[in-house]
Amino acid sequence: MNTAPAQTEFAKGLAGVTAGRTAICSLEGGLRYRGYDIEPLARAGDFEEVAYLLLHGELPTPAERAAFGERITAAATTVDPAALDALATLARTSPHAAPMDALRTGISMLGLLERDDTPGPRPALIAQAERLLGQTPALLAAWMDLSTGRPVAAWPGGSIAAALLSRLTGRTPTAAQVAAFNTTLVLYAEHEFNASTFAARTVVSTGSDMHSAITAAIGTLKGPLHGGANEKVLEVLGEIGSADRAEAWVREQFAAKKVVMGFGHRVYKDGDVRAKLLGRLCREMVRGTPGDALEDLADRVERIMLEAKGLKPNLDWPAARVYHALGLPVKVFTPIFVVARMSGWTAHVIEQIGDNRLIRPTSLYCGPALREYVSPADR
Ligand SMILES: CC(C)(COP(=O)(O)OP(=O)(O)OC[C@H]1O[C@@H](n2cnc3c(N)ncnc32)[C@H](O)[C@@H]1OP(=O)(O)O)[C@@H](O)C(=O)NCCC(=O)NCCS
Repeated sequence: MNTAPAQTEFAKGLAGVTAGRTAICSLEGGLRYRGYDIEPLARAGDFEEVAYLLLHGELPTPAERAAFGERITAAATTVDPAALDALATLARTSPHAAPMDALRTGISMLGLLERDDTPGPRPALIAQAERLLGQTPALLAAWMDLSTGRPVAAWPGGSIAAALLSRLTGRTPTAAQVAAFNTTLVLYAEHEFNASTFAARTVVSTGSDMHSAITAAIGTLKGPLHGGANEKVLEVLGEIGSADRAEAWVREQFAAKKVVMGFGHRVYKDGDVRAKLLGRLCREMVRGTPGDALEDLADRVERIMLEAKGLKPNLDWPAARVYHALGLPVKVFTPIFVVARMSGWTAHVIEQIGDNRLIRPTSLYCGPALREYVSPADR
């Protein structure tokens, strides 16, 4: 018999609940990946270096970095043709499907094709994670070709940032564009027990496999309160149109009790360090271009949100503007977040498997008291 006292309190949305331990990322005293402050990592701007750090626990030597890059390119260029064929069929029937849905389906298909149904030993998991890091951007680029009726172009090789940017825009990016894109990937790579990472950890805590965990994580990231916010941010900026309309627009949102996308954060109540870093980069990047007008509008919205509600931007606020300035279509913004967060997700999956206990919280029942069953004929 359960003799524990009846619980009367719970944390809605698990706010403030410490749900486990991690050695991958910390937010106390500033965002750090495996003990390294985010600022120098973002300034170095090498996504593969950060992905290696998250997965392997240490920064790579130049030789390790080069070999890691080669393994990722190999994965990107050898995506199972059966998965690409299946995506081609889906693109013919549903060309307007969201790339996030295509990516979730694509990763799920890769799990089926790999026959991934139990978590392997650590070296196998690391190899699987590295494959996913290369396969994911390749799947995204393939879907963008297939859904617009084009044959799948070859993966260009080089860094994920350079290759994906060139695949998604159809142009060879400049070094400055690749650097900016890389910085966004570094900033999006990891963020401890956010909703999608927690979903992934929950899946593998049952003994399930890496691909199932990542499929769940993609579905979780898609929501506008999480990763989906970066696409909504650009829609919001387009809807407002110009800086002189910002005040009225924000007041309308408050009156309608709607949240403004790209602001607020569950953990950062005094501002998101990633948004500060990327906001600065974004302003420098677009200075003197037609993008300046969008920055003026964004600045105005930021001031109003701060004055009216004390709310500061989160990472999605500048990330959306950087992606727009790089010429990327809005519908790939959240999938790009997937490409980056794959590093954090897979590191967490491996950490959870390495020290597992089934994740299974309890709930506070708030339904009817005991009732008598009534047979169908008597209802
Ligand atoms: C991220 C988010 C889901 C965090 O939610 P949360 O931790 O439950 O938020 P809180 O409960 O601490 O919010 C406190 C108050 O600020 C308000 N608030 C929070 N974010 C807001 C926003 N973006 N716009 C307007 N009001 C907001 C809440 O409605 C709440 O108001 P209330 O006290 O009058 O009810 C929330 O800030 C949000 O919806 N932001 C917009 C979506 C977004 O940008 N997501 C990406 C996150 S990285």
